[in-house]
Amino acid sequence: MADTERDGNGAGNSRPIPYSDIDLAHWREYDHVWTDSLWLIDARDRTGGHALDYHGNFVPQIATQAYLRYTKEDDIVLDLFLGSGTSAIEAVRLNRRLIGVELQSDLVERARSKVPAEHLDDRIRLLQGDSGAAQTGAGVQKALGQMGAEHAQLLMLHPPYHDIIRFSEDPADLSNAPDVDEFLERFETVARQGFELLEPGRFAVLVIGDKYGAGRLVPLGFYCLDRMQRAGFYTKAIVVKNITGNERGKGRTSNLWRYRALAGGYYIFCHEYVIVFQKPAVG
Ligand SMILES: C[S@@+](CC[C@H](N)C(=O)[O-])C[C@H]1O[C@@H](n2cnc3c(N)ncnc32)[C@H](O)[C@@H]1O
Repeated sequence: MADTERDGNGAGNSRPIPYSDIDLAHWREYDHVWTDSLWLIDARDRTGGHALDYHGNFVPQIATQAYLRYTKEDDIVLDLFLGSGTSAIEAVRLNRRLIGVELQSDLVERARSKVPAEHLDDRIRLLQGDSGAAQTGAGVQKALGQMGAEHAQLLMLHPPYHDIIRFSEDPADLSNAPDVDEFLERFETVARQGFELLEPGRFAVLVIGDKYGAGRLVPLGFYCLDRMQRAGFYTKAIVVKNITGNERGKGRTSNLWRYRALAGGYYIFCHEYVIVFQKPAVG
């Protein structure tokens, strides 16, 4: 009898996971794959071409965990808010394919410069466009077809946290939405587009933080979760992750924030969310 079959925790059934390469027959060997809902990340992974070169990029470990958990090698990741291309670099590192969409053309060029030439426009396709536009959806569908696929196997969404960081002057930029309701409407449009492009039964990972406005907490994370559900996804997990890599921006202002927090009765954000969704399988 195999070691796992003797396990008393119901772990004896090592059927393959349809959406990942994790081999349950060796499930004890996956310490590097996290299953706890609290992620305390010491430092940004700066190996393998990753750098803190874009204010608002996510730590590569988010992509690492999402890919290991929810994709197989050669699967196609669709990132509809590519930014500086963290998800693309990680796709190369872990032998995944990727289609990335970003509104700002200079960022697309910057991301392209980080991808090895032999992968560019082949396993890694980076498109400029508004992820909420039908035309962009058609462009992604075309790219999928050129890669021999009908759907992507993982959807990554790391939108602006409304207007916390203004990413560009472009009116189509979600960070320029005039108010939270408009931001959420536009986010839902992107979520619906992503839903259509994702293979049934597969996963979506949303990275989002909350904000304060007019002396109140605006729970963007929960609002966006609701919009994902309206788009057709169901929620699998809410992970709370510490915010790392922004130390540059703290320094002199941290005392000021602490004073304001004490005076205003609120808490300083030290976390954001990594929310996992699944698209229902057909039938
Ligand atoms: C939080 S950042 C993503 C950072 C990315 N995960 C990284 O690691 O670099 C959000 C990005 O979404 C882009 N963006 C905003 N509105 C968009 C839209 N309508 N379509 C496509 N990209 C958009 C912004 O230009 C910005 O680069």
